[in-house]
Amino acid sequence: MDRNFENAREALNQMKERYSCRAFSDEKIPEDILKEIIEVGLRAASGGNLQPYSIIVVKDEENKNLLYEACGEQKFIQEASVNLVFLMDWHKYDIYTKQKNAPFVAYKTFFHFLIAMQDIMCTAQSIETAAFLSGIGSCYVGSIIGESSLVKEKLNLPDKTYPVLVLSLGYPKNASPAKINKLSYDTVVFDEKYRDFTDEDIFKAYESKYEGRTTNLPQKDPYKSESLEKFKKALLTSYPDDEAQRILEKAIEDGFINETQRRFGLHYASHVMQEISKWAYEDMESMGIFPNDI
Ligand SMILES: Cc1cc2nc3c(=O)[nH]c(=O)nc-3n(C[C@H](O)[C@H](O)[C@H](O)COP(=O)(O)O)c2cc1C
Repeated sequence: MDRNFENAREALNQMKERYSCRAFSDEKIPEDILKEIIEVGLRAASGGNLQPYSIIVVKDEENKNLLYEACGEQKFIQEASVNLVFLMDWHKYDIYTKQKNAPFVAYKTFFHFLIAMQDIMCTAQSIETAAFLSGIGSCYVGSIIGESSLVKEKLNLPDKTYPVLVLSLGYPKNASPAKINKLSYDTVVFDEKYRDFTDEDIFKAYESKYEGRTTNLPQKDPYKSESLEKFKKALLTSYPDDEAQRILEKAIEDGFINETQRRFGLHYASHVMQEISKWAYEDMESMGIFPNDI
């Protein structure tokens, strides 16, 4: 096919406006459009062209509810016209390699695990891009990780498959939201070698992204004590007792925490991330995938 770049500028301008859409209208995505954007994803690069994935297209209300419940009850999952569930999939190769007398340990090597994650993101992002250029909004849902037991039966997942990502798709209900801040170009992209940041450079880069945003701590119990307890446990993963206590007391005195304290202290709470890493690993093992079986 002769390639035509006439619309490249328009596509680039469009992509600079991409955002995660979390409110969808009732309009359904037509079958042919959905199929086409998924086909774009299947053309994505893949390590060794192995394509160690499958995609389950979920439109059925009951299955949407299942995903909604498995993924932390995020409302947009139910509202989405379609949810794509991306599986790491060594099941098909497990069968095929035996049929062809080939050696096969991909489901139990960390390197293949990493490559498969790279592949899945390439495919998912191509689909996200194709969807956005077609006027379809989307939002990734990572919280399917660790929840295979909740969806395994209904989605008929065989051994050696693992759900790693969901992409909710639908037509946006509202106009594009205000642009969310991203790190500046110079904070992320370096010529030839890693940039010699000063601590001050890094401070400024993130302050500029987060604009000094703070989050008020809850005023009333039990929410207040729950938040403080969670925050303290998170702090103790990274600071000695007395320092953690000092940081906590300052937060209590201020009545708020800053954005990184929220991100790593409450949202992706550090101690919780440590605990659930083990749990996610066990969840993968229960599906016959052993990412660290060296
Ligand atoms: C791997 C991954 C998992 C994500 N999981 C969720 C999620 O569970 N819920 C959600 O609302 N957004 C999720 N997001 C979307 C991010 O919150 C979003 O990309 C980020 O806030 C930046 O906003 P933007 O996409 O509008 O630029 C996820 C994004 C990625 C890449």
